[in-house]
Amino acid sequence: MGISWLVIIVGVSSCWAADYELVLENPDIFSPCTEGPPGSIEVPQALDLDQLEIIHDGDTLHVSGNATVKWDVNPKDRITGKLEVFHFSRGSWEPTVFSMVSQDFCTIMYDRNQYWYKMWTAYISNRADVEKKCINTPGTVLVHEPFDLNLRVQNIRGPTLRGRHKLVIVFNALDERNIPRASPICCEIRGEFIKIN
Ligand SMILES: *[C@@H]1O[C@H](CO)[C@@H](O)[C@H](O)[C@H]1NC(C)=O
Repeated sequence: MGISWLVIIVGVSSCWAADYELVLENPDIFSPCTEGPPGSIEVPQALDLDQLEIIHDGDTLHVSGNATVKWDVNPKDRITGKLEVFHFSRGSWEPTVFSMVSQDFCTIMYDRNQYWYKMWTAYISNRADVEKKCINTPGTVLVHEPFDLNLRVQNIRGPTLRGRHKLVIVFNALDERNIPRASPICCEIRGEFIKIN
């Protein structure tokens, strides 16, 4: 089960790596999913963000404070995560070749090789507790040391990202028979990719 986020790139024609900055569309960062899975809930319904402060400053987010898990699932559930990138083209959202899947997010939450870790979980200071309880145990507090999240993605191979995009992130909780719980988490981060290198 210890599968890490796999970057799946299909049908790549160009092999030059590029760096991009994501200019966010929504200052609140997360938008509700427009075509989320049935029954899906938004981030604020799954995580209490009242103690979390995010200050948006150009291409940087200054993050500090705590988030408390309130997702109503079972601590024994397996959590799967999926991130897909869509491109807005001629009036509709088209899939792109960029996606990542984890079949067991809790086992790789602290994997040093993940983007995730470098951008976020490295700054959760109560690691021992969070590593045990993950995001499937209501009441878990994610205590952050203040950190800056840079909205840059580096070394991206594949076709050039241009214009309006959205990242759609879905977390599912599966019970012991691998049946998904009724309330997956779905959120979108919308913005425009600007090539910087
Ligand atoms: C976050 O949690 C820690 C540990 O419980 C606490 O010391 C701190 O004051 C909290 N920070 C905020 C902003 O609530």
